[in-house]
Amino acid sequence: MKHNFFLLAVLALGAILSPASPAHAAAPPARRHILMDADWRFSQIKPAALQNGIAVTHWRWRPGHADEADQMTAAPLSTTDGDWKDAATGDDVFHGRVGFAWFRMTLPALAARQGRTLRFDGVDDNATVYLNGQKLTHHEGWNDPFDVPLDAAWNANGPNILVVLVENTAGGGGITAPATLGVSAAPGGADPSRPEMNDAGWRTVHLPHDYVLESAFTPKGDASHGSLIPTAAWYRKTFTLPASDKGKALWLDFDGAYRDSKVYLNGMLLGEHPCGYTPFRFDISQAAHYGGRNVLAVQVSPQHEEGWWYEGGGIYRHVWLNVADPVHVAPWGTFVSTKMAEPGPDRAVAPATVFVRTAIGDAAPDPNVAHLTAALGVNSYRLVSRVVDPAGKVVAATETAFGAEQNPEIAQQMTVAQPQLWSVETPRLYRLHTEIRQGDRLVDATDTPFGIRTIRFDAEQGFFLNGKPVKIKGTCNHQDFAGVGVAMPDSLLYWRVKKLKEMGSNAYRMSHNPPTAELLDACDKLGMLVMDENRHLGDTESGKASQDTPYANLHEVQSMILRDRNHPSIIMWSMCNEEGIQGTPHGRDIFAAMKKVVDQADGTRPVTCAMNGGYDSAVGITSVEDLQGINYNPGAYDGFHKAHPTMPLYSSETSSEVGTRGIYGPDTFKIDNITYLGDQAKGHISAYDLHAPGWAQTAEAAWQPIADRPFVAGGYVWTGFDYKGEPTPFGWPDINSNFGVMDECGFPKDSYYYYQAVWGDKPIVHVLPHWNWTGKEGQPIDVWAYSNAARVELRLNGTSLGAKDMPRNGHLSWSVPYAPGTLEARGFDAAGRLIATDKVETTGVPAALRLTTDRTTLTADGEDLTMVEVDVVDAQGRIVPTADNLVTFGGTGPGRIAGVGNGDPSDHEPDKAGYRHAFGGKCLVIVGAGEQPGDIRLTATATGLKGAVLSLRAVK
Ligand code: GAL
Repeated sequence: MKHNFFLLAVLALGAILSPASPAHAAAPPARRHILMDADWRFSQIKPAALQNGIAVTHWRWRPGHADEADQMTAAPLSTTDGDWKDAATGDDVFHGRVGFAWFRMTLPALAARQGRTLRFDGVDDNATVYLNGQKLTHHEGWNDPFDVPLDAAWNANGPNILVVLVENTAGGGGITAPATLGVSAAPGGADPSRPEMNDAGWRTVHLPHDYVLESAFTPKGDASHGSLIPTAAWYRKTFTLPASDKGKALWLDFDGAYRDSKVYLNGMLLGEHPCGYTPFRFDISQAAHYGGRNVLAVQVSPQHEEGWWYEGGGIYRHVWLNVADPVHVAPWGTFVSTKMAEPGPDRAVAPATVFVRTAIGDAAPDPNVAHLTAALGVNSYRLVSRVVDPAGKVVAATETAFGAEQNPEIAQQMTVAQPQLWSVETPRLYRLHTEIRQGDRLVDATDTPFGIRTIRFDAEQGFFLNGKPVKIKGTCNHQDFAGVGVAMPDSLLYWRVKKLKEMGSNAYRMSHNPPTAELLDACDKLGMLVMDENRHLGDTESGKASQDTPYANLHEVQSMILRDRNHPSIIMWSMCNEEGIQGTPHGRDIFAAMKKVVDQADGTRPVTCAMNGGYDSAVGITSVEDLQGINYNPGAYDGFHKAHPTMPLYSSETSSEVGTRGIYGPDTFKIDNITYLGDQAKGHISAYDLHAPGWAQTAEAAWQPIADRPFVAGGYVWTGFDYKGEPTPFGWPDINSNFGVMDECGFPKDSYYYYQAVWGDKPIVHVLPHWNWTGKEGQPIDVWAYSNAARVELRLNGTSLGAKDMPRNGHLSWSVPYAPGTLEARGFDAAGRLIATDKVETTGVPAALRLTTDRTTLTADGEDLTMVEVDVVDAQGRIVPTADNLVTFGGTGPGRIAGVGNGDPSDHEPDKAGYRHAFGGKCLVIVGAGEQPGDIRLTATATGLKGAVLSLRAVK
């Protein structure tokens, strides 16, 4: 298509540098971007049993193709020839064959006049169901029940010929569980997708929401997924739209729901979205009721996994309603990139060119307005783009005329003369303000934050940000947290990034899926380098989608790049993690197809894969990627570098040290031939940096080889925070991982201080273990110190136990006969000056509770929250490191307890509760704001202890 738009000469700068005149400012907003998180009705209803149920157990089947529907569903059709065979419920007709099979049978007569329904208890994998030649439903996913309403195609006089096309993507397959023909107990009225359905008995929830976390931990659940059993659920939300919205572009953005979402508006199926990690969007201009009530209904079915960690369930990210002029900036349609000479040794900053690509959405799906833009003529619109600096000043602007053609993408270019660079230390953010104007009318307006910085990977010297070498000191993280699961409000996402920065970390790997957009915002604002990751290639391993998806349909990759490409924090795109096909031509070809999509949508960042093998292969992913990520295997760095001297290298995943906060023994035990120190019965591992599973390394053993090699650009530690699931090296009773440098509540384990010492720039010393060893008087205790000082001295009760030189990137240890009192570590610099101290003290018994938080003012938006640390302290206010008191929470005011946790990986107390036992002297209560402003008073009590009160404020 020929685009009929042209570039206007840049107008006199003054005219467009100033924001809109007051007359424009008074006009109604050009676009509405409405957060739809409040007031959802929610239920985990199970479908009622069908009445007069008749089992459907016998079929005729034959292998086939999806494009034979006309022929296979035709009546009559003989199923007696050689290709057709008998199949009964449960028969595996595929035996590992990937492809399709047709099943046919004639349904028995049914007396009912309406509500005729066929319920499948399980089809492996995907099913398309036809009745009398009419397609009734398509169901994605394997072995979960689904209903097919039959009335629309039922032949009252018979016969009723049922045909099912079954698609198998891996392993066995067929109609694996009983199917039942019957009558739905309350036809229509009980169907949550129908607007008239009465949801008065449901409860009201606020997004983000993860309901799987509300179920009980059970050994029957999958340990790698947190020992919880997910079931399907429904959400419904009612909203109104003014009559004046008719003719506009309206769409809904779902930032993420886990998973297999089906979305209905006013009873119309808008669409389905299988993936639990990618955002999705539906045009609602056709289904909307203008000037009236709209009922949005969403079913999620989180039973099927995409990964091997806790994945949650529910609408766990934001939902937005967008209303715009038919001529508008297309969603994800703005791309800002910058180019400037890399600053040299003198740090002088050159002017930056800002390139802007803006896709215009001409969304006029309503035929009555489809003529609108054409009628308005050629070049009647102007795209005005302004660069706003961190202080809010417009520093560059340009405008371009465009007209009647559909969906043009307009390229513009501006110069920022003295750019303020985005960096880890000073994450300065600019904003592109975009307006579409037609004469004096403001047609649309959007804002896109971006940053100006240069990035470069060098095969010899690693990563450069703005011309300066920066070692990547990163952590990998999954997206859940104590108390809230995967439903992470924006403020918690921000809080976690802040915690990691305080540890000295400068990089975050979104393992192994596209993150919540607001997490990227937090990384932009706080100066955190990001490895953004896609799971698309995981399809080939998990069989969650059809075999040819990776080549044929790359929308999952594209959506991530389009959504995320303006974030200055992102320095690399990761397409995959530890895929079985990483070293094969098959893997190479899929990766190349994905990389093409990435480069088309961005082209400013390297594309990489996190590989745990296959990097030696000349025909695998390594042959087509920009940047090599190696998971673990530090022994491979030198060989890889020698064999690929021009390929930059980094550790995409490192360490996987396991440890439990505050645990230092008491036993040794073996799992998979590895000897661990800890408490096997409780599922606890010592927090000395001694242990990692077979494929992994301790923190020190992992970081030293990275630190020692300038050509290794850095690494991402597995993981910053513990997460639910993957309780390596245990199974039940552990329900969460032991890999975190911080526990599930964000409380530091000892390794946190190792990283703070070797990554951070402040002098620190940290001594471990705690010093409450009653009964062990005179027995030797292993004492460790982490520090970045030159020398560390240890003192017990004022007596020096000697000073030692601090090994670089290592630790010091002493064997100290236990005597209660104070154990102090003192760090000295090379000149012998005392630069840091730390101490552990033998405490008294628990006497009181203490509540601490870093934010006492919350936004009264129903989502904001603050993490409150609960300490069990002795009479002198020292945390009692062995305390496990039960703490009960209460309070007054417009707040709520959003969740609790304590970091104990084998504790089965619920995350959603008003109480928690302390573990290692601490627990966490997350306090959320309601929608009303006011004073919130949190109380904590425990039997025999002095309680504590915390005052918070919620403001509008
Ligand atoms: C890696 C994998 C991660 C996690 C980790 C645990 O191999 O990529 O997802 O499972 O092991 O050590």
